[in-house]
Amino acid sequence: MTKDKVTELQDIVSHCKKLGFIYQSSEVYGGLSAVYDYGPYGVLLKNNLKEYWWKAMVQMHENIVGLDAAIFMDPKTWKASGHVDAFNDPLIDNKDSKKRYRADQLIEDYIQNKIQKKIDKDVAKGQKRFGESFDKVQFLSTDKRSLDRQAKIDSILNRMNKALNAGDLADVKQLIIDLDIVCPHSGSKNWTDVRQFNLMFSTQGGGATSDDVLYLRPETAQGIFVNFLNVWNTSRQKIPFGIAQIGKAFRNEIVARQFIFRMREFEQMEMQFFVKPGEQKQFYDYWKAFRMRWHLALGTPQDNLRFHEHETLAHYADAALDIEYNFPFGFKELEGIHSRTDFDLKAHQDLSGKKLQVQDVESKESYVPFVVETSIGCDRMFLAILSQAYQIDEAPDAKGVMKERVVLKLPPALAPVKCAVLPVVRVNEALTQKARAIFNEIKYSFNCQYDEKDAIGRRYRRQDQLGTPYCITIDEQTIEDNTVTIRERDSMQQERIDVTMVEKIVSERVDIRNLLKQL
Ligand code: GAP
Repeated sequence: MTKDKVTELQDIVSHCKKLGFIYQSSEVYGGLSAVYDYGPYGVLLKNNLKEYWWKAMVQMHENIVGLDAAIFMDPKTWKASGHVDAFNDPLIDNKDSKKRYRADQLIEDYIQNKIQKKIDKDVAKGQKRFGESFDKVQFLSTDKRSLDRQAKIDSILNRMNKALNAGDLADVKQLIIDLDIVCPHSGSKNWTDVRQFNLMFSTQGGGATSDDVLYLRPETAQGIFVNFLNVWNTSRQKIPFGIAQIGKAFRNEIVARQFIFRMREFEQMEMQFFVKPGEQKQFYDYWKAFRMRWHLALGTPQDNLRFHEHETLAHYADAALDIEYNFPFGFKELEGIHSRTDFDLKAHQDLSGKKLQVQDVESKESYVPFVVETSIGCDRMFLAILSQAYQIDEAPDAKGVMKERVVLKLPPALAPVKCAVLPVVRVNEALTQKARAIFNEIKYSFNCQYDEKDAIGRRYRRQDQLGTPYCITIDEQTIEDNTVTIRERDSMQQERIDVTMVEKIVSERVDIRNLLKQL
């Protein structure tokens, strides 16, 4: 029944605003760019996502413990981590439009719009022509035109990454010129040189002198590194073990776009896993597989997720990959898994003069542990799950005529509202009283909503749009035999059950353990 309609980012943005999931920050003043507020349903869904992550990482692993470090840290932290000197984006301005861009994104957009789209178009043509029997992988590995296009993409990315890693900003600009990239606003090729721009926000501490600069953390990870010994000394953990944290991070992203994909204030869910040097590969592989299972357990089709191994590595990493999701604007990074060696702990040890080492149980030798991290943006995950869940199918209206229906097919454990309690009509006091009594009974177990306004069909549609997996309807028969109907969101099937079973049935079906058991 699903209509053959591609979900556009704009559909998600409008849906979020209309239903109360996400609003732009300070909208009454015109809106602050790349900063967003979560509304009544957004905060519930976001909290459920965080709970799923926390339980999967901390509760399910006896060798992982939690932390909630402060956002402000001693500024030396950011010197040691490299963020003061090297946390930069390459920026370029167009002299005619006065618009500023990230040079690497201009190049990536060129690839997407001028080359990748042509590959996708040929794939779509093949799918249309051959239907089920079309083998995409085989097509992409044999079709000459697609292979040539892919080779062009690889060569551009190669040159760009080489230039960025070498700090050769002149070559990044030359690449933009060679590719004939124009300003998306003015169409002009009148570019400035490419410059580096630090992404950290800063503010002043209590002393308010120029020496008293404080940074808003650009990642939560450093709070974990500087607390490594505190946790080691107090948690009775042995290597290998991990520290997990969910918290805000801030980056002065110059190019603000794609809704909550790239924000200036966002939330990260990060876990740093401390291992013996030499054992990092085995844990890197473990976390790569575990994190993919975490995504797949949400019902996300494998086709919409992929690994992207980094070919050029940051100086502190010996392996790194992204888990990419197929967002409405294409495959993009959703989560990073990085084998960070002992870079961070060593850097803090050197600058602070404090030993950040543990002793090997057998050899009695002290060493600085290596770290494998998993890092996912909570907001980016929110966008991924909404993009996955947002669907348009058909449902019968009051006269039985099939009409388009917008529905969020969220995993029940993540849904903001688990169950709506709906008296079929509100004029009947016996029904509303009974419905209220049911609501008051089940509200202890999960988040539910009582609604008696509008025709029943319209109320179902509203709950479908919120992603509510179950609606309980109270009608005349309820008064007679103490039964209600339970309607399932995706199939729209209704079943008659005893009132006393409502709490048990819904609790079982929306239980987060249904997700955790798949890991
Ligand atoms: N500690 C490692 C680290 O911070 P990262 O690749 O820079 O690595 C990790 O960020 C994750 O944080 C990304 O995969 C993404 O999900 C999220 N993220 C990064 N910048 C973001 C932004 N500006 N807005 C929203 N999410 C962001």
